[in-house]
Amino acid sequence: LAEILPFRPRQLDRILEIERASFPREAYTRKMFKELRRECGPLFLVAKSQGRIAGYIATCRSETGAELISVAVDPRWRGRGLGAALLGHTLALLRASGTPHLDLMVSVGNPDAVRFYRRFGFRRFGTARRYYEDGSDADQMRLRL
Ligand SMILES: CC(C)(COP(=O)(O)OP(=O)(O)OC[C@H]1O[C@@H](n2cnc3c(N)ncnc32)[C@H](O)[C@@H]1OP(=O)(O)O)[C@@H](O)C(=O)NCCC(=O)NCCS
Repeated sequence: LAEILPFRPRQLDRILEIERASFPREAYTRKMFKELRRECGPLFLVAKSQGRIAGYIATCRSETGAELISVAVDPRWRGRGLGAALLGHTLALLRASGTPHLDLMVSVGNPDAVRFYRRFGFRRFGTARRYYEDGSDADQMRLRL
């Protein structure tokens, strides 16, 4: 259904489109994506379906494991397994390199995403109060690899 490939700079305009459609209030900027490319390297991936980029995922290594920075799928392409393919590919890369765990932050007001992560085995281990600019909280979740 989808090919999972490393992010290329020429895909940035399309990634920004998906980002703005997915996070209308807190979209990452062009500059932030360029930083992610530097920091995430081969863990910045895109999903290509029918010749078109339809989603991305960016994960950075941390001192102790790795952190999922962001994942988004074009609203018109959701519910077809692209998000699962992006996350599954990321987990395979992390397991192959012996990474012990993958952490992430997710808005408490995003139950769809929380359900998506739980299905992969992520468990909540804390809450970051007022994590987002609008003052809302984030759940901290971890998957042991
Ligand atoms: C979270 C997200 C990346 C998942 O991507 P996706 O491609 O829709 O994920 P999948 O298709 O692999 O799985 C989605 C699940 O939701 C269900 N679903 C069905 N239709 C859906 C739809 N229109 N939108 C979202 N989810 C849907 C699917 O049934 C699937 O569950 P299943 O595997 O049990 O069938 C995507 O919803 C998204 O971009 N959300 C907005 C951005 C966001 O919140 N990112 C995470 C916060 S950091």
